[in-house]
Amino acid sequence: MEPIKVGLLGFGTVGSGTFTVLRRNQEEIKRRAGRGIEVARVAVRNPAKAMAQLGDAAGTVDLTTDFNAVVDDPSIDIVAEMIGGTGIAKDLVLRAIANGKHVVTANKALLAVHGTEIFEAASTKGVMVAFEAAVAGGIPIIKALREGLTANRIQYIAGIINGTTNFILSEMRERGLDFATALKGAQELGYAEADPTFDIEGVDAAHKATIMSAIAFGVPVQFDKAYVEGISKLDAIDIKYAEELGYRIKLLGIARRTDHGIELRTHPTLIPAKRLLANVEGAMNAVVVYGDAVGSTLYYGKGAGAEPTASAVVADLVDVTRLHTADPGHRVPHLAFQPDRLSNTPILPIEEVTSGYYLRLRVADQTGVMADITRILADSGISIDALLQKESEQVDAHGKAETDIILITHITVEKNVNAAIGKIEKLATVKSSVTKLRMEGLD
Ligand code: HSE
Repeated sequence: MEPIKVGLLGFGTVGSGTFTVLRRNQEEIKRRAGRGIEVARVAVRNPAKAMAQLGDAAGTVDLTTDFNAVVDDPSIDIVAEMIGGTGIAKDLVLRAIANGKHVVTANKALLAVHGTEIFEAASTKGVMVAFEAAVAGGIPIIKALREGLTANRIQYIAGIINGTTNFILSEMRERGLDFATALKGAQELGYAEADPTFDIEGVDAAHKATIMSAIAFGVPVQFDKAYVEGISKLDAIDIKYAEELGYRIKLLGIARRTDHGIELRTHPTLIPAKRLLANVEGAMNAVVVYGDAVGSTLYYGKGAGAEPTASAVVADLVDVTRLHTADPGHRVPHLAFQPDRLSNTPILPIEEVTSGYYLRLRVADQTGVMADITRILADSGISIDALLQKESEQVDAHGKAETDIILITHITVEKNVNAAIGKIEKLATVKSSVTKLRMEGLD
């Protein structure tokens, strides 16, 4: 049988990695897919650079700067979009679908923000949109959620799904660095982009959590409803205090089913240090999925890089090749649930989520301060799980002693904690705004 023909849009890290893996493992891949998979055309902005990367394979592909020509080419069966972002990538993906082509993409921003439009267009045309590489790079988490765990009612997903921020947090904890120094180091080592905003502000992780929430709970992708908080304001002192209390701080993407709706949130999170997830260090990714039948499962691996991401892209190319001629009604649905059976379960606003909370405040070290604070918490129905008061080491401008108090609460509703914090900050003996971090037991 003739090889299936792929048109590659973009030849950066992921595009060139995909080409390399496909070429190196072509015989093995053909044995798995049932026919060869051939990159026939590659669209790039800079052909000279791509030519150099292709080396002795340069003669095997048609290089062009005309992206539309690849998307419109009748001989191309699958368009692999490796450009990223929500601009030209969106136009090209929709155009490929309109032309009846299957799409493979690593583009989490595109699917988290415009997924509904893209999946609807694909269903109308009876083509596949595969996106394993969009979440956690080489970890087959989409396949696991969509197919491997299909028997389960998924209860929650909690993932370290951004390697850049996990690397920075590891550096902050292990080397006692502040955020800015750790970020600079990450940039020098090539982990963080020159403009690291999407990574450090939690946007990249929230895109991935949004995609996973849709597949886990059978709801549309709704990035606009996700709560997004990154690590740029995280203070090194909180990493230290958390550790003293037996916790590590990780940027988690969380999607959780509750009786009232779905929690979809990304933020720095305290996790008990004994949990496997707490021990995922450096740029690695890991995702915990809890299903009612299977219990807790953990997926670990490289979330970025040329060949780990290509591993996911090529797996999608093989899936699409196998199912190319199947009746669209018999393929696995894009978002795991049948498109006409998606649920309108609401995504909860952050004030309605429940969590444990870590609170740090600087107070005057004098009689009755702790009693005032704990009374406010008790009046708000908030129970304290752990408490740490440091010996006074600092004095204020008048020579009066000050100290840090760190509290961990039992699980409670965020709006109650916010109300209590408002009252605590009004106390004359409280000298700073309250630092609030969320905590997940993951048990
Ligand atoms: N920038 C991402 C990370 C990889 O640091 O994990 C691509 O999603």
